[in-house]
Amino acid sequence: MKAIIIENPGKINVVERDIPEITDNQVLVKIKAAGICGSDVHIFHGKNAFATYPRVVGHEFVGEIVKIGAATKNITIGDHVAVDPVVSCGHCYACRIGHHNVCKELNVMGVHRDGGFQEYAAVDQEQINQLPKDIPWEVAATVEPFAIGAQVAHRGRLSSDDTVLICGAGPIGLIILQVAKMKGAKVAILDIVESRLEKAKQLGADKIVNGKTTDIVAAMKEFANGDGVNLIYEATGNTKILQTCIRDLPSPAGRVVVLGFTTEDFALRQVDIMSRELEIIGTRLNNHRFPEVIDWFKKGQVQPKEIITHVFPFQEAEKAFKLNDEDPENVLKIVLTF
Ligand SMILES: NC(=O)c1ccc[n+]([C@@H]2O[C@H](COP(=O)([O-])OP(=O)(O)OC[C@H]3O[C@@H](n4cnc5c(N)ncnc54)[C@H](O)[C@@H]3O)[C@@H](O)[C@H]2O)c1
Ligand SMILES: [Zn+2]
Ligand SMILES: [Zn+2]
Repeated sequence: MKAIIIENPGKINVVERDIPEITDNQVLVKIKAAGICGSDVHIFHGKNAFATYPRVVGHEFVGEIVKIGAATKNITIGDHVAVDPVVSCGHCYACRIGHHNVCKELNVMGVHRDGGFQEYAAVDQEQINQLPKDIPWEVAATVEPFAIGAQVAHRGRLSSDDTVLICGAGPIGLIILQVAKMKGAKVAILDIVESRLEKAKQLGADKIVNGKTTDIVAAMKEFANGDGVNLIYEATGNTKILQTCIRDLPSPAGRVVVLGFTTEDFALRQVDIMSRELEIIGTRLNNHRFPEVIDWFKKGQVQPKEIITHVFPFQEAEKAFKLNDEDPENVLKIVLTF
């Protein structure tokens, strides 16, 4: 079989590998489609602190079951499945209290171990989520990023009562927007790329703010009728923006949900947290949220096609990575087909 491998930062190749063996508790998935995520690109550039090399990246992948382990249950050859890339130990503190996505021994496919940019992958039966056969493969590949949307909704206790600001209209910000609108919230979104803001408008944003030309603090005063924003998602990864989100934007009893993983230090004032009972909430990956997302897809409650801008055969991965880097005006989600 063929696999896309990042040998070292900056070096990507399509290589020949053996088809993986499976254990009794695993299944063999013939990969059909896989999305390129910002974190795959970070691994390509050597900017992901969690990754080791050489690595087959890809954590947004779907495919067909072609082999099943002797101890697996309720899985049939030919099933269409989405693979949850999060693998955990099951017994550390985080796992015991139901946060297996931040397991002490967290092992994410495509980051800590080989992922989905290959023709076949061996995965544990717990990672498998059945897909209806009428969802096209490219669309199904967005279940994982939508599971990030489901996770952040859960972390922020997103409800129809909330006035929400999403900082960043990248694929993740636009997914959070879809989830927030589905839940009935009033939503503003910030970016500096006009085409992404236009897409946000089209997806139902109540207000779009271009940070290059508009002061976000003044814009949010008006948007939230002077009350402050109840729920803020920081999905630009920019530390200065997070600082503004904590200091200048929240309402009393507000929540700020942090998605980025920049390592830069920044200053906070205790009073901004204390006086409003502000909650600053981390979020990472997803915590068994695939079934919820697949249900949204089945019911047509979200529009996954809207974030897919390009589909490439996997042999053109290098070109796709390059395009992802160079053209934020036109690229949102690129999906590779196998
Ligand atoms: N915590 C998690 O589980 C998780 C999962 C996926 C992604 N992420 C993170 O979420 C963030 C968004 O992911 P993405 O794939 O959409 O990335 P992205 O890079 O495509 O999107 C970021 C967006 O922020 C905008 N932006 C950057 N600087 C800005 C500024 N100063 N002002 C306004 N807008 C600005 C960019 O134009 C871009 O549209 C990234 O930081 C990513 O690492 C976290
Ligand atoms: Zn991702
Ligand atoms: Zn654990």
